[in-house]
Amino acid sequence: MDNQLETGFKAGRLVSIDDLDTADIDTLYQTTREFIKILNRPLKKVPALKEITVANLFFEDSTRTRLSFELAQKRLSADVVNFSSQGSSLKKGETLLDTVNNLLRMKIDVIVVRHKISGTAQFIHNKTGIPVVNAGDGTNEHPTQALLDLFTLWDAGMENKDIKICLNGDILHSRVAGSSLKLWQKLGIEYEINGPNTVMRRHLPLRSANFNSSRPFTVNYQLRIQKERQNKELIPSLEEYNAFFGLNADQNPGVAFILHPGPINRGVELDSDWADSPQSLILKQVETGVALRMAIIYFLAQKKGG
Ligand code: NCD
Repeated sequence: MDNQLETGFKAGRLVSIDDLDTADIDTLYQTTREFIKILNRPLKKVPALKEITVANLFFEDSTRTRLSFELAQKRLSADVVNFSSQGSSLKKGETLLDTVNNLLRMKIDVIVVRHKISGTAQFIHNKTGIPVVNAGDGTNEHPTQALLDLFTLWDAGMENKDIKICLNGDILHSRVAGSSLKLWQKLGIEYEINGPNTVMRRHLPLRSANFNSSRPFTVNYQLRIQKERQNKELIPSLEEYNAFFGLNADQNPGVAFILHPGPINRGVELDSDWADSPQSLILKQVETGVALRMAIIYFLAQKKGG
């Protein structure tokens, strides 16, 4: 790394949205469009990363994100190894760093990591210097989710100026919120955050600087209540939550699009009427996620070795 101004792909990691500048984001989105074309061909594979080996380290449960990363890597022809803490030597007392150092000796080029402790992805990058992608660290960040969500809106025909998002739910424990708010601020996207007082991020303003109260919302982004990341009861009951903060069958949000990162708790933050409505982009988010992760792995793999 030659100078401290380097960020994002140049720095060789995607640990936080802070690692990207707007030019990186542009390049990433252009490349995602190219990869979408490839994924729509009968032969969905390119040989771009034939010489690269990627390790997916999932220390926390995941369905979508883990499969999405793995497919993205395989579509690029990378060799892939998958690690999950279930059934591993961590259960025998091995430290995270020892596990990672063992993997490095097996000649891994890129690491994708999900962990319940905030800061894990940065820690691994600092200790190893190899490209690391944060697939979710505690309540901190989940940058690929934020990036693919915004791409999904663009892909649905929206431009930044059309987007006005109401982000609803457990803002405090949501790493998707952590990354999304940074991304929206960076790109000047209009938003408001909304949720029970007990799960707001108190240091954050509720609205973007460019919030215009006379303009209607165009996007509703519903978040899951992250019960597994809360250490006390912060929500009186799920029924009450659904009535006040969920998008339920009785209300019409009047927006063009609905987003959710999954997994959905139907009947809590989102009723099936809306989850499966024509406004819902939830499955589109999953679809575009593979192409966007291909683009990220593709750029970071060029940074291996420094
Ligand atoms: C999110 C996560 O794990 O942070 N899910 C995901 O990656 N698709 C959101 C959540 O768990 O609610």
